[in-house]
Amino acid sequence: MKILTIILALGAVAVPPALAETPQQILALYQQQAGPASAARGEAFFRARISRDGQTGSCASCHTDNPKAAGKTRANKAIEPLAPVANAERFTDPAKVEKWFRRNCKDVLGRECTAQEKADFVAFLISVK
Ligand code: HEC
Repeated sequence: MKILTIILALGAVAVPPALAETPQQILALYQQQAGPASAARGEAFFRARISRDGQTGSCASCHTDNPKAAGKTRANKAIEPLAPVANAERFTDPAKVEKWFRRNCKDVLGRECTAQEKADFVAFLISVK
């Protein structure tokens, strides 16, 4: 009985990745590493045009300026909207989220995103109504 109580208490403090199944839980995971997120900073990051190697890229270049709209890859393949309000599957699978952050941040920034950038980005998309 006591042991179970302790396990439950620990679970409430640190959400194991396997239990991060909602955008709020995924946001909580990044905030554990980064501190409080800012949706405003996340929005600025989403829209920022970043120049690198003579080319300008941004998250919005594929995901469009409207997170509720479908985007397009460079090969013209459709990308479902990023905002959970428009696409309930977004930010429900931590492994998928990490995979695409890694890939897209390297593509646009030439490096991986920080935990703070990820927290802000998720906070912004959750805030989209
Ligand atoms: C070259 C096009 C492209 C750019 C630029 C791009 N993305 Fe994406 N993004 C994709 C594709 C393709 C997917 C995966 C397809 C899908 O899930 O619909 C994706 C999926 C994601 C996901 C997965 C979310 C989930 O839960 O399903 C995240 C997070 C993400 N992108 C973040 C970013 C961020 C942050 C940036 C800017 C630093 C960015 N993307 C820029 C193409 C792009």
